[in-house]
Amino acid sequence: MRIALLGGTGDVGEGLALRWGLETNHELLVGSRDPEKARDAAESYVGTVSAAGGDATVKGFTNGMAADRADVVVLSVPPYHVSDTVESVADVLDDDDVVVTPAAGMKRDDDGFHYHPPGAGSVTALVREAVPEHVPVVGAFHNLAAGRLADLEADLGIDTLVIGDDADATATVSRLAEEIEGLRALDAGGLANAAEVESLTPLLVNVATNNEGMHDLGVRFS
Ligand SMILES: NC(=O)c1ccc[n+]([C@@H]2O[C@H](COP(=O)([O-])OP(=O)(O)OC[C@H]3O[C@@H](n4cnc5c(N)ncnc54)[C@H](OP(=O)(O)O)[C@@H]3O)[C@@H](O)[C@H]2O)c1
Repeated sequence: MRIALLGGTGDVGEGLALRWGLETNHELLVGSRDPEKARDAAESYVGTVSAAGGDATVKGFTNGMAADRADVVVLSVPPYHVSDTVESVADVLDDDDVVVTPAAGMKRDDDGFHYHPPGAGSVTALVREAVPEHVPVVGAFHNLAAGRLADLEADLGIDTLVIGDDADATATVSRLAEEIEGLRALDAGGLANAAEVESLTPLLVNVATNNEGMHDLGVRFS
């Protein structure tokens, strides 16, 4: 499978690229607004996976070129730029592609982080509005700490909540998630449940910030 990571030069894109690069044979397409930056990141990810004993196929492109080549497109860009990013690639999305959103909108004040959804109700809803109607959208990977993903020596032992309205697309993303060792995909229902899933992220960040030894916190439901 070909997986595009738009904004894959950033933290969560790096973490997912390294884990899929080490543990699967998928072709990973790092997207960026700047293709040179994407190529540099791709080269660096190949080196990191190689040092960990793997053999990853990772290439760098503009976001549009990465999305055009991909079967699955992960929007690994900051939440307030998902609409612009989707609009920049909408023309190249095919009916059988799947768009994945890991984004959670947060704001910070003196007390900590708070869930701060856009007017659409959730970042996922914003993505659903921006993505062409015939292309399925799935939410996943919101509650993973990028640093823990990128540390290839770290055990995960955590869950990711997957939401979607298209059963095939949701199953595809759940399979991709579970190909990462130690990551379990749990069905959290349809896209209408996005706010509940996204709002876990600021909670995790607050707990990680306020408690020693909880850096890069994840959740295992049991
Ligand atoms: N960090 C985490 O631990 C984590 C965990 C789970 C989910 N998430 C979610 O994953 C998404 C990405 O998080 P992140 O921490 O990886 O973000 P990030 O490192 O701050 O940014 C990711 C990439 O987004 C691109 N970008 C930055 N500004 C942009 C803009 N104005 N328009 C379009 N692209 C822009 C940049 O790529 P180029 O400059 O190369 O274009 C950047 O490398 C967020 O929505 C976040 O909620 C994050």
